[in-house]
Amino acid sequence: MKLAAIEQEMLAGKHAKTAQKSMEILVALGEIYDAKRMLPVTSVQIAGVSYANLREPGLEWLAEMAKDGRVRVLTTLNPAGMDLDNWRALGIDSEFAKNQGRVVEAFAKMGIITTCTCTPYLVGNLPHYGEHIAWAESSAVCFANSVIGARTNREGGPSALAAAITGVTPEYGYHLEKNRQAHITIKVKAKVEGTARFGTLGKVIGDILDGNTDWTIPYIRGIPRATTDELKAFCASVATYGGTALFHMEGITPNKTEIPQGLLLITEKDFVKAEKELNDEEAVIDFVSIGCPHASIREIRRIAELVEGKQVRKETWVTTARPTKSIADRVGYTAIIEASGIKFACDTCCVVAPIKGRFQGLATDSAKGCYYAQGRHKFKTKHLSLEECIQEALSG
Ligand code: F3S
Repeated sequence: MKLAAIEQEMLAGKHAKTAQKSMEILVALGEIYDAKRMLPVTSVQIAGVSYANLREPGLEWLAEMAKDGRVRVLTTLNPAGMDLDNWRALGIDSEFAKNQGRVVEAFAKMGIITTCTCTPYLVGNLPHYGEHIAWAESSAVCFANSVIGARTNREGGPSALAAAITGVTPEYGYHLEKNRQAHITIKVKAKVEGTARFGTLGKVIGDILDGNTDWTIPYIRGIPRATTDELKAFCASVATYGGTALFHMEGITPNKTEIPQGLLLITEKDFVKAEKELNDEEAVIDFVSIGCPHASIREIRRIAELVEGKQVRKETWVTTARPTKSIADRVGYTAIIEASGIKFACDTCCVVAPIKGRFQGLATDSAKGCYYAQGRHKFKTKHLSLEECIQEALSG
């Protein structure tokens, strides 16, 4: 790789020790993928924040990096294993809370903004079209590449942190125009509206793409309109079920691409089949969760409308970014929602929080949430619209 003078200095150890380690990681990555040079990045999002995933070895590595590591670009975090303020009310034990606190402290010491969210684009970490960035969380990566038109590979925890500390990333993969062209055209002949339905579409398309090395980038036709919330739900799902980091949606996403010749048709039958897999017939719901990816202020407003003056009868969480909740606090949505018995879980989500064994059945509007609830937590699941989730929470 051809390195700029400052990159060579970092590699030679003329800057902080952490900068040297970081540059070593990035050069090794660049050599594996045959990158010719490094690219400056303007934004980083780091995943691997939950202590449930990191454990002591991960935390020791972070503490070592925090000794002299300081980030050079705007950097935020993916959800942690708990609400950093309100963990007790959500049933997190104090030992876990102490360790999660140590993780967040290490990140903060490096100058990272410890906003823990998978929707950084909703709370101030928002790149523009064509910008090179280094993000890690799969739904956020898919959203950044596809909906915003920024350019990022799906970074691992160490490579994202290395990019934050050096301010660069190797030029390969989705940073290169030639790797951003669509491979297959998919025409949707069914009505798609609402976050849950967009999540199901993500599963249908993800299942088609899963394991297929020739078709990784779809060109999707037949969707007349989509809101930001619907696209966020779609990104989470298609990234989960298909490993998709970039898609094109005709008339909706901004990237240019050749339109592939081959055509695959998706009909209502495909939605019915996917819904069957997302819904366990014998699910007995004792937990309702909304906010995967993290709920937007629009979704929180809708929840407030639905629960005003009512009481939920099941444990119900809204997972969101703390800055989004601050807005909800100011305009009064939080008071309405909390009066109904629903709990906010900021900074975290139902996948990375240590909740295995606490519940049996989850109702959620997130197709991604169903995947992890079934696989990781062994919960039975119901995949419902946001309105139906609230109905489920209110029912006995
Ligand atoms: Fe975000 Fe957690 Fe869902 S990271 S996309 S809320 S699994």
